[in-house]
Amino acid sequence: MKRTNVTAMALAGAALVMATAGGCKSGGAGGDGTGAKVAITAADRAEAQQIFQARCSVCHGQFGRGDGPGAAALNPKPQNYGDEAWQKKVTDAEIEKAIVQGGAAVGRSAQMVPNPDLADKPGVVAALREKVRSFGDL
Ligand code: HEC
Repeated sequence: MKRTNVTAMALAGAALVMATAGGCKSGGAGGDGTGAKVAITAADRAEAQQIFQARCSVCHGQFGRGDGPGAAALNPKPQNYGDEAWQKKVTDAEIEKAIVQGGAAVGRSAQMVPNPDLADKPGVVAALREKVRSFGDL
């Protein structure tokens, strides 16, 4: 009887360790450059859509062509997400890092402003990255 209890406890302990390790992995996204994949919920996509309209389209344009009303004054110009060569070479991790930490963090212009409030919202950041990628298919 005693032996069984010990085994059960050991199993429970192992499960706990595995759950904790999994949690660490998904916490890796959100712009730390690890490229860890996170699940994107419908709510994340809705919030990302709102954020894109409110913050990003001013510079990057409604359709991600880098031609928003704020783009005229910028040099270099905001990234055109429809640029195939750029879509091919940029990694998901770099896109997410640029969004959270700003252009300077990925060796691009600091005029690409950081969004530090999204650091603890990896699902929303991943949804924004998905949106940026989607403009490459237009
Ligand atoms: C104030 C204008 C401005 C705003 C607002 C802005 N960006 Fe940018 N963004 C830029 C500029 C300028 C660049 C190009 C920097 C360069 O070429 O060095 C850029 C580049 C990027 C890149 C390319 C990064 C890379 O590593 O190639 C991504 C992705 C991006 N922006 C996403 C976003 C998203 C998503 C938002 C909204 C959350 C956003 N940007 C808001 C100006 C802006």
